[in-house]
Amino acid sequence: MTATNSIHGMWSTRLAFILAASGSAVGLGNIWRFPYTAGEYGGGAFVLVYVLCVVLIGVPIMMAEIMLGRRGRRSPINTMRALAKAEGRAPAWQLLGWMGILAGFLILAFYSVIAGWTMGYMFRAASGMFTGIDAAGSGAMFAGLIGDAERLLAWHTIFMVMVVLVVARGVAGGLEKSVRILMPALFLLLVVMVVYGIQAGDFDAAVAYLFEPDFAEFQGKAGEAILSAMGQAFFSLSLGMGAIMIYGSYLKRDSSIAQNTMIIAGLDTLVALLAGLAIFPIVFAHGLAPDSGPGLVFQTLPIAFGEMPGGAFFGTLFFVLLLFAAWTSAISLLEPLVAWLVENLSFSRVRASVLGGVTVWLLGIACLLSLNAWSEVKIFGKGFLDLFDFLTANIMLPLGGVLIAIFAGWMLSRASSVDELEMGDGWFYRLWWLLIRYVAPIAVGIVLLNAVGVLKW
Ligand code: PHE
Repeated sequence: MTATNSIHGMWSTRLAFILAASGSAVGLGNIWRFPYTAGEYGGGAFVLVYVLCVVLIGVPIMMAEIMLGRRGRRSPINTMRALAKAEGRAPAWQLLGWMGILAGFLILAFYSVIAGWTMGYMFRAASGMFTGIDAAGSGAMFAGLIGDAERLLAWHTIFMVMVVLVVARGVAGGLEKSVRILMPALFLLLVVMVVYGIQAGDFDAAVAYLFEPDFAEFQGKAGEAILSAMGQAFFSLSLGMGAIMIYGSYLKRDSSIAQNTMIIAGLDTLVALLAGLAIFPIVFAHGLAPDSGPGLVFQTLPIAFGEMPGGAFFGTLFFVLLLFAAWTSAISLLEPLVAWLVENLSFSRVRASVLGGVTVWLLGIACLLSLNAWSEVKIFGKGFLDLFDFLTANIMLPLGGVLIAIFAGWMLSRASSVDELEMGDGWFYRLWWLLIRYVAPIAVGIVLLNAVGVLKW
């Protein structure tokens, strides 16, 4: 492995990588998906399992993904092929890259629809529609949006065009600048919302709900709850489908993979917890149901914006920033495919991005119709949007993660990982080695086998 640069470009600095990878990680997963999923499983116990998954499984796998990407310097498919060859392993390891592309497609299809909701809410906030709204009103507003297929299609289309535009230009160029300003702004605004929650919401109830684990909540659905918490960790950290791997392939050497990972995973988790602390005080103060599902954020925050001074301004700003967070995540979902098309089929970046974008756009239409016109169409009891979400977050990403862990821990020689992680052979390396070889594959394996019914506890 001697390639020192990727043909697709390189991050200019270590900070650029951290910003881009955090841009990928922090998105709708933190602010939309985390609170409602935690709410569906009763709060604290879910949050605890989630944090454990981030630390024990997510962090070592993120290090592995960055490491493999940087060593391969190609799209995930070709990186896996090249590394398997260099280490004398079966070429079938490239299937990992293919599965990642499929997962990226499915995620982006529904992700774009939800990003569309944020655009719709941006305009609702700006036009003062939140003022004085109550729980019933905001529920009706949400139902009105998701019932309107044409509007959802318009937003979905605009969002996909935005994604294709950036990916076509090359992520190492366009992305850096936007993330540098917008991510800290989103962070600050979340803090403002938490402060509002302390003043006007039921903050104590929210803290107790999120941080006092009550495993009785898992009664009868422990397997499902743990699967969801683990899936949420993979989804939120962008792991298991090659997004972080390809971002790693644009990272220069002499940049500590371990440190970078800690920063990215730490930020990502912090944003998710802040989102919880912003949303649940309002949920409890207004007697809303924590388990009301995917609409949770969109039904609660408007109430807060409607009450607070300057709410129209803060509300608009919040949904604009959330849109940007979704944008920087969506870009990383398309990049592995585009890089592969450029490498193997000699597509230009523009053609590759448009082709990928159009395919995802079509899949996204199925997702948005599942909210209204096709609400009766069920596969395994789920509509397209829920099905894509479940399949990717809870099955495909963890499966990709196990395979990455097995490859990094068992297929790659120890000398290669010591060399690429650049942190010597000390205790921290050994800890990683233990986690990636045993803890991550066994833990994820058990949860997955339980989910598919092979192993029932
Ligand atoms: N991590 C992103 C989020 O939390 C979603 C994502 C998943 C992005 C997988 C890339 C890969 O919103």
